[in-house]
Amino acid sequence: MCGIVGYIGDKNVYPIIIQGLQRLEYRGYDSAGLAIYNDQLHVYKCKGRVADLEKFVANDDMSGHLGIGHTRWATHGEPNDCNAHPHTSMNGDFVLVHNGIIENYAELKSDLLKKGYTFQSATDTEVLVNLIEYFYRNVEAATGEIAVRLALSKVVGAYGIVVICKDEKHQLIAARKGSPLVIGIGKGEYFVASDATPIVNYTDSVIYLNDHDVAIISKDSLTLKTVENIPVAFKITKVDMSIGDLEKGDFEHFMLKEIFEQPKTIEDTFRGRITPDHSDIVLGGLLDVFPKIMNAKRIIIIGCGTSWHAALVGEYLIEEYARIPVEVEYASEFRYRNPILNSDDVVIAITQSGETADTLAALRMAKEKGATILGICNVVGSSIARETDAGVYTHAGVEIGVASTKAFTAQVTVLTLLAFKLAHEKGKISIGTYLDLIKELTEIPDKLKSILVKHPHIKKVAAKYKDAINALYLGRGYLFPVALEGALKLKEISYIHAEGYAAGEMKHGPIALVDDNLPVIVVAAKDHYYEKIVSNIQEVKARRGNLIAVVTEGDDVLKAMVNDVFEIPKSHPAVSPLLAIVPLQLFSYYIAVLRGCDVDQPRNLAKSVTVE
Ligand code: G6P
Repeated sequence: MCGIVGYIGDKNVYPIIIQGLQRLEYRGYDSAGLAIYNDQLHVYKCKGRVADLEKFVANDDMSGHLGIGHTRWATHGEPNDCNAHPHTSMNGDFVLVHNGIIENYAELKSDLLKKGYTFQSATDTEVLVNLIEYFYRNVEAATGEIAVRLALSKVVGAYGIVVICKDEKHQLIAARKGSPLVIGIGKGEYFVASDATPIVNYTDSVIYLNDHDVAIISKDSLTLKTVENIPVAFKITKVDMSIGDLEKGDFEHFMLKEIFEQPKTIEDTFRGRITPDHSDIVLGGLLDVFPKIMNAKRIIIIGCGTSWHAALVGEYLIEEYARIPVEVEYASEFRYRNPILNSDDVVIAITQSGETADTLAALRMAKEKGATILGICNVVGSSIARETDAGVYTHAGVEIGVASTKAFTAQVTVLTLLAFKLAHEKGKISIGTYLDLIKELTEIPDKLKSILVKHPHIKKVAAKYKDAINALYLGRGYLFPVALEGALKLKEISYIHAEGYAAGEMKHGPIALVDDNLPVIVVAAKDHYYEKIVSNIQEVKARRGNLIAVVTEGDDVLKAMVNDVFEIPKSHPAVSPLLAIVPLQLFSYYIAVLRGCDVDQPRNLAKSVTVE
């Protein structure tokens, strides 16, 4: 949700800001803007993408060695030039970029209006920049830093900000509460950004700011303190991110690249966690808390969007194999509904970004109520990764496509490892079954490759259905969450209305939608629900629905029954979600491309949702 970037040093700031914004564009792309300090402070901003900003400034002198930039996902105020960041204070003393929401902005604004301040935009951010200026002008001996800290002490809400004071040409001021900020440490230069992606070209040494930190950054020095002016010690961390992860390579879109990376990312996720002789699973990040998980009365898995779908797969697996009761909750509901939690409960947050505001808040609430909190995160050093008692990284690498693909299969891989390990340690499965299940998981990457090579067939099928208005996805058991995720992928990137349903529920409503226009995508691999789902297919067929089925290779019965099939290799049902989702990801991808949609940056969405 909004990306921010800043630089101070000897390099030319403009390319650093532009490239940084391009890397952060997945966080929002409603408008883009930047401020550069050369002889004076210059601000440029416009509605649209970073590419539009580049055109906008094409004829201007962009030289300078200190600057900030912003790419916006609109919250307060529609996406237009005026509401774009950076925002400038009324008298031009401060320029600021902001990620987050100032919840008490209306109250602060009315106070400032009484003091004679006027506003150009509809944003909460302009209130903050004017509040900083107010303190700067009205508190004796105030510096930029003092004014920023005074203003932040009045703010309720979330912020990651970078501020330039017109009178302090030598420094940037950054602060964080709720919205992530990373500082990159170079030689005689510093970088600030919402995540490490704009920084890794220049340095791998970073500091992740904590909530309430204020950073005062000049070319040669960095000071961290709290909003209350108490010094803060910082820890320098090495980022392990390859530049290749940040480029599309030969692929047309990041989403396609990330779909094709899955054999590798799944392997990266289980490699090192399955012993070389494939006889055991070791989840190093959970070692200290494992007894607690083993003895948990209940496991609650929370997440949003795709991560919530992965959680559902986890619920089915953990209950089936480890026999521990599991509940899956939308983080946004869980955090507000005063759930009953105690110290016997284990709450697992699943999140690609590790920054989703609802998931973070739900986790904090669970911690306050005494539960053990764990994380399954992709982004190393993210807020959720740092706040949990323990956790497991998914190792999917940077995911840039806004529609999540490889992060989902990596999350499911971790949950699969956890379920099998718990089942083994609790003695709920025989050693033979444990070894068989591990073997099945290790075979997934090769099986996945054999699905990916069939992409031309999937593209052909996509062409037949690209003009659909609605679509229905059905699945049972482990493949029910796959149906939900398949439907989400289609609606996110192609804007076709799609519903995922438990196949057995179809007769209670969705069957009314079935006619000869409706594509019905049934995830029907051979498992113990197979006969049941074949009956559901018959019910759709009887009503002339257009059936597409994900089937196990060699299933000639279903092949003859439906219009189109996507075949997946035979596998154990417990690992089948990792295979079955992939043709559905490709199906959505090709439909969206054929409809001319912006696959990597679908309208209205953002990858990292740091507002509730
Ligand atoms: C956004 C993204 C989804 C993602 C969800 C949860 O809506 O567009 O792809 O699944 O947030 O994000 P998280 O980072 O917590 O997994």
